[in-house]
Amino acid sequence: MLKISNLSKNYKGFLLKVKDLVFEVGKIYSLYGKNGAGKTTFLNIIAGIDENYNGQVINNFKKTGYAVQFIENVICKRTVKDEILSIVIEEKKAEKILLELNLDDKKEMSPFLLSSGEKRLLFIRAVCEAFDLILIDEPFINLDRKSKMAVINFIKMSKNLGKTVIYTTNRIKDVAHSDKVLEIENGEIKTRDN
Ligand SMILES: Nc1ncnc2c1ncn2[C@@H]1O[C@H](COP(=O)(O)OP(=O)(O)O)[C@@H](O)[C@H]1O
Ligand SMILES: [Mg+2]
Repeated sequence: MLKISNLSKNYKGFLLKVKDLVFEVGKIYSLYGKNGAGKTTFLNIIAGIDENYNGQVINNFKKTGYAVQFIENVICKRTVKDEILSIVIEEKKAEKILLELNLDDKKEMSPFLLSSGEKRLLFIRAVCEAFDLILIDEPFINLDRKSKMAVINFIKMSKNLGKTVIYTTNRIKDVAHSDKVLEIENGEIKTRDN
């Protein structure tokens, strides 16, 4: 479980304030809001990247993973396989994912040679494999229908394994894949069942 209480964060003219919010195990949450509403800021706080806030964030999940927006641009390793291995750690998990995504024959290639969509899918799939609280910032932007369906499938698969997913979107239609919708507006978050 992830529990947030009395959270507030201030910038010049921007405020995020959340009184009480609980993220339960085994559920999918969408965080919906316009550009600049504070979605990424909120994920950064949960991920522990941004510590510049007031209030309590109690995270009881064993391992929290964060697929940042445009994660396909975050290339660190020399080969596709090493890239995935650095997330999932276990060799057999990396091999399984590469086979599943039909990228086994490209595993020794530079990650730069994959298409953006292939990289996005691979990274998100790996994060879903390795962590039990999974944060994904704007997973659907710039994906074609098939790739988008694949990401939705990764999210649903994670839930079926008892994991918790929080993804953001600025398109209301894309909240459809979640159990609960968190709408962020004027710095406040309203929750509803989907
Ligand atoms: N480190 C920062 N310093 C000052 N302002 C920031 C910082 N990070 C984000 N902001 C501002 O906070 C607001 C929320 O940004 P963000 O969380 O990225 O929104 P969203 O992801 O919903 O589009 C924006 O107005 C943005 O410019
Ligand atoms: Mg954002």
